[in-house]
Amino acid sequence: MSVLEAFQDGEQVLLIDQRGKRHLLTLRKGEAFHSDRGWIPHDAIIGHPDGSWVRSSLGLRHLALRPTLAEYVLEMPRGAQVIYPKDLAMILFWADVYPGCRVLEAGTGSGALTLALLRAVGPEGKVITYEQREEFARRALANIHARMGEVTNLAVRFGPVEEGLADEERVDRVILDLPEPWRLVEPVLRPLRPGGIFLCYVPTIIQSQQVAEALQRHPAYGLVETFETLVRPWNIEGPSVRPFHRMVAHTGFITLARRVVPEDA
Ligand SMILES: C[S@@+](CC[C@H](N)C(=O)[O-])C[C@H]1O[C@@H](n2cnc3c(N)ncnc32)[C@H](O)[C@@H]1O
Repeated sequence: MSVLEAFQDGEQVLLIDQRGKRHLLTLRKGEAFHSDRGWIPHDAIIGHPDGSWVRSSLGLRHLALRPTLAEYVLEMPRGAQVIYPKDLAMILFWADVYPGCRVLEAGTGSGALTLALLRAVGPEGKVITYEQREEFARRALANIHARMGEVTNLAVRFGPVEEGLADEERVDRVILDLPEPWRLVEPVLRPLRPGGIFLCYVPTIIQSQQVAEALQRHPAYGLVETFETLVRPWNIEGPSVRPFHRMVAHTGFITLARRVVPEDA
């Protein structure tokens, strides 16, 4: 067994019990995890491979896994509502966030999208994220550091994004998760390079319509589109092969556009 495969003291683990209930915890030598399913010493996990089964004091099985980023964002502490993994996945590909990309994000919220962006842009890229509520920015930073340790490709700007845009550096992508993105359609043109992508995520179609129309009217944008992502999980158990009875039916709408050079410029 290679050392890298084994859980280390100080790292995060996701414990999943037989009911499927998930617990995110940080492993510490000598400490124990307690729940209504019994207790498990952290030392029973430290040194064992990712994907090991451990039994609680009541003899009940738990699966110990290193959380994926999707699992982590759903379990990490929240200030603001996070963007769900199904939407994070679409945002990364539709906004074409690539290694080395420079992204301007607002607002940071709990940091779920920031984490996804940081991983996608990699060490050669950069994420500049604005958050107007300091307690949310601090929560997000704590979530980011707990997952990634120290990061060198992140700049957190405290305050409303509209106040920083005039002096902001050049970026390849602008990604917004805030209530009135149409107000930023014009001001983000300053940092957003030609050919770059504007993307925003809003919970209602009224907001989507307002931002889509602002983008369509503006000569510096083209290829405006809006969509939502529906993920319908299926139950596959013997003869019971059917969609789940419940699903996350609605989260938000994504609207995006390309920054173009106006024809008369
Ligand atoms: C829904 S949350 C963002 C959640 C985040 N995308 C995540 O996945 O964790 C929206 C955030 O935008 C912030 N916000 C709203 N308007 C803003 C503005 N003009 N400038 C900066 N932040 C803003 C709010 O304080 C809030 O934290």
